[in-house]
Amino acid sequence: MNILPVNADSIALGAEIIVRGGLVAFPTETVYGLGADALNPGALARIFEAKGRPRFDPLIIHIAAVESLEEAADLSRLDRETRRILDILTLRLWPGPLTLVLPKQPWVPDLATSGLPTAAVRFPAHPAAQELIRHSTGAVAAPSANPFGYLSPTRAEHVGAQLGDKADLILDGGRTPVGVESTVLDLSAGAPRILRPGGVSQERIEALIGPVGLPNAPGEGRVPAPLAPGQLKSHYAPRTPLSVYPLEVMAALSFDPHDGYLFFDAPARDAWLAGQRDRLTSAAVSSAAIQVLSSEGNLREAAANLFDLLHLLDGLGLRHIRAEQAPPAGLGPAINDRLMKAACAAQ
Ligand code: TXA
Ligand code: MG
Repeated sequence: MNILPVNADSIALGAEIIVRGGLVAFPTETVYGLGADALNPGALARIFEAKGRPRFDPLIIHIAAVESLEEAADLSRLDRETRRILDILTLRLWPGPLTLVLPKQPWVPDLATSGLPTAAVRFPAHPAAQELIRHSTGAVAAPSANPFGYLSPTRAEHVGAQLGDKADLILDGGRTPVGVESTVLDLSAGAPRILRPGGVSQERIEALIGPVGLPNAPGEGRVPAPLAPGQLKSHYAPRTPLSVYPLEVMAALSFDPHDGYLFFDAPARDAWLAGQRDRLTSAAVSSAAIQVLSSEGNLREAAANLFDLLHLLDGLGLRHIRAEQAPPAGLGPAINDRLMKAACAAQ
């Protein structure tokens, strides 16, 4: 397997591979992406093949300068108000975990946009991602570097284990700091609307541009709970079945040695443990099967740990993972969206 640590040489090699139509997995601040030349249909086809991704699911085009936006998006088709909003967002939130859906340029291949008249564009903040994009084609299409339907990768090891030799090169930049994918905001159809909650919170966007629309169910911030697995086909799933619960329900669960538990914070875990004394041995208490997203309940830390801990729990051979829902503020909706999708898909 071709994994190299991020440095000037490995980035130059990655850039050359992309220019030649190959696939390079690379770190961004959100999750690892599987990148290819956004304007090369053959290279784009390889992305879909490597991920086993249906071609109706469009890709995000990554750029490394705000000025490159017009290589993918036709800004002349935006009205004045949308143009104003776009300028604020790109000035204040780029580079960063925000993807903007905009009218596409005619030369962007249909494979990148699944035939839609719009293109999703993002300027990532991670320096290795920026260097790779700059030194290759300036526009790199990159979905998360996981097989379609599986947990997103937050470490190069996840990419190696999941995609193996399907990427020509994996650039290892360590753990990704944000840990959940970018927020996808649609600016192509009138009033701005969040299509996927992610690394930039709704509150942060609204503080800059006013109220935004929200995704249609099931992407909404709150999780109808307890949520049984198997209601919807979806993404981000571990192989182990997973259920999501609000705190009260989670707190009332009885410990089962075959199951894994993912609490939002340490107080929730400790209160639960205190109620399980007679069922729990000290070995069980310290086992990897009982985890906390953020000891102090910090939503950023929780988001950064989410996929990492789900990967870990999924590797323990458990019968079921039981996860507590995050509070619905800040990055909470993004965390809950991923948990809910994992619960929907895992069987
Ligand atoms: O943080 C991220 O966004 C990561 C890193 C690698 O940048 N990428 C990522 O890509 O999550 P992917 O392919 O796993 O998710 C892209 C999302 C999908 O939900 C897709 O449906 C949506 O963006 N999308 C892409 N183009 C779109 C378009 N033209 N209109 C609406 N949604 C679009
Ligand atoms: Mg993905």
